[in-house]
Amino acid sequence: MSTDKQSVKNYYDDVALRKLSSFLKPNLRVESAWATLIGSIGKPRRILEVGCGVGDITFRLSRHFPNADVTGLDISPRSIEIANKVFGGSKLNFVAGEINALAEKEFDVVVMMDVFEHIDNNDREGFMCSIRDCIATGAFVFGSCPTPEFLAWLKVNSPQHIQPIDEDITIDVIADLARVTGLRLIMYKTVSIWFSGDYFHFLLGPQHSIKPLAVVSSKQPNRFKEGVKMILRGNKKNIHSNDLTAEDKLALIRLRMGDEFTRELQKLL
Ligand SMILES: C[S@@+](CC[C@H](N)C(=O)[O-])C[C@H]1O[C@@H](n2cnc3c(N)ncnc32)[C@H](O)[C@@H]1O
Repeated sequence: MSTDKQSVKNYYDDVALRKLSSFLKPNLRVESAWATLIGSIGKPRRILEVGCGVGDITFRLSRHFPNADVTGLDISPRSIEIANKVFGGSKLNFVAGEINALAEKEFDVVVMMDVFEHIDNNDREGFMCSIRDCIATGAFVFGSCPTPEFLAWLKVNSPQHIQPIDEDITIDVIADLARVTGLRLIMYKTVSIWFSGDYFHFLLGPQHSIKPLAVVSSKQPNRFKEGVKMILRGNKKNIHSNDLTAEDKLALIRLRMGDEFTRELQKLL
């Protein structure tokens, strides 16, 4: 079934505010994908997150890789507006639109968490070609998606969680992505977040190349408090640290978006 782009944008515009809740409260799906991603990609210089929504994961990437230029892209203009206001900074930039319109290329890492399944089957080949066209030599592509089995379960038991486009992404589709992008399937693993085998993670990377990865610690650096204090003091640079408390995060949102927006958000939590 083909769903028109405008209704897809409208849907994600409408849910944009609610998506900020993943920034305020840990989302197990994102945490699981984050752990796999961070352990797999070394130290990229240019990162693209496709389908970044309101930018919370892009922001986290920018903090984790403070020397990298990070771009978040999303089809939903409302999500990008929020992302820019709440998280935008000197090395973190957000773009509304589709990947084929992206002016910048040569990304070392492309991240898509819960996005590939939202690309219409009819648009998939073009989408995969656009990924191929925006990666640098030696790039990695990381993604997470629900398994087809979990999607089938949701369609019957929890249809309210089905989005305008929710396609089955099988391992054959991931192999196709590897073929189109010219990358090698390095990792494909099924994980269990809320149900047994409900999601999978994949990593594509350079052909014929085994690279040492940077040793990464799951413990976040402890510079975050200072970074937030700087933000709260009005200094937009150096938003690199981690370990924000829920209160710190809310203070950041209030500072950037104002009281009324923050009250609306709190009603959704
Ligand atoms: C399920 S949300 C995932 C958001 C975020 N990546 C996360 O993991 O929480 C899917 C996102 O993909 C975006 N999206 C859907 N189709 C897209 C497309 N063709 N190009 C770029 N973004 C798209 C939506 O606007 C939405 O923000």
